[in-house]
Amino acid sequence: MQPKAHIVGLPVYQPGKPIEEVQKEYGLSEVVKLASNENPYGFSPRVKAAIEQELTQFNLYPDGGAVELTAAVAEHLSVNPDQIIFGCGSDEVIALIARAFLSKGDENIMADATFSVYKSNADIEQATSIEVPLQDGKHDLEAMLASVTERTKIVWICNPNNPTGTIVGKDELRSFLDRVPSSVMVVLDEAYFEYVTDSEYPDGTKLLADYDNVVVLRTFSKVYGLAALRIGYGVGNAAVIRSINQVREPFNTNRIAQAAARAALADQEFVQSCSAKNAEGIQFLQGEFDRMGLSYFPANGNFIMVDTKQAAGEVFQRMLRKGVIARAGFKRYPTYLRVTVGSPRENEIFIRTFEEALNEQGATV
Ligand SMILES: Cc1ncc(COP(=O)(O)O)c(C=O)c1O
Repeated sequence: MQPKAHIVGLPVYQPGKPIEEVQKEYGLSEVVKLASNENPYGFSPRVKAAIEQELTQFNLYPDGGAVELTAAVAEHLSVNPDQIIFGCGSDEVIALIARAFLSKGDENIMADATFSVYKSNADIEQATSIEVPLQDGKHDLEAMLASVTERTKIVWICNPNNPTGTIVGKDELRSFLDRVPSSVMVVLDEAYFEYVTDSEYPDGTKLLADYDNVVVLRTFSKVYGLAALRIGYGVGNAAVIRSINQVREPFNTNRIAQAAARAALADQEFVQSCSAKNAEGIQFLQGEFDRMGLSYFPANGNFIMVDTKQAAGEVFQRMLRKGVIARAGFKRYPTYLRVTVGSPRENEIFIRTFEEALNEQGATV
């Protein structure tokens, strides 16, 4: 058997190390995982009750169109239900967009250090990815615009950008959208939308009325705390969403995830409280990095990218042995570590372990 030729060289996605694996490998009783930008405060208490109600219904297929959840999100965002598509995580919405809009020979544009799933799906569709260098960790929209050709189908803007945490502002985004050809889809990935406190940050869903070529991605995996249930969505022009729907599997989101997402959306108090605690966590971590004399990119999501000034992969390994999982391995930023903002206790454990690991530089292991 032989897979398709263009599949052979593709890498397999490497997720953050699971807690159980690290515990077993290093014989640790406690492991703090700050590697995948998960919510340290769990999820709304309303979610558990909503899931319990679904427990007797496993013999029935879910609602393939997620009608109730669609209505709830449409109301929340003040858009029409036909402007929304759900996926098994926003990961799947990215894959569906690529499946529906990218063919061999097409080009798509993204930053050179951004969420890897855009490029991996473009590779699967045999499209060419143009990776535009970030400037000071930020999307360079002018350079991205200059990279547009008649072959360009999609521009991906991760806002805030994972892994750097930087944002593009309202004015620069509008100026970009005013000049990009209307035949080019602009995907605004707002997975960390609810965490952003900067007043210059644009709400992509408010741009939809003016730009038919914009698709906004959001997720229940981050501030809503439902990463395990795999549910996210795209919002855009109804005709575009219909095209994406045409390549969707019939039952791509499950009954439990839909019910949980409805309950989670209804609890905006939980969202606000997590977002406020996250902002305090950012202040704490940035203050500690300042004390250590380390630079970092301005954080707008629930993670911070800090320059360790040494090989970050080594720092990562030293921390792993002490039971703290962060993230390194960013090709463009070999000395940077990305850490998720945890609970106050987790943040303190992180700082203590991080400082120890930094000081072990050059020590034999
Ligand atoms: C920028 C960005 N987009 C999308 C996702 C995918 O999230 P999910 O598939 O869990 O909705 C992530 C997850 O880390 C992310 O960081």
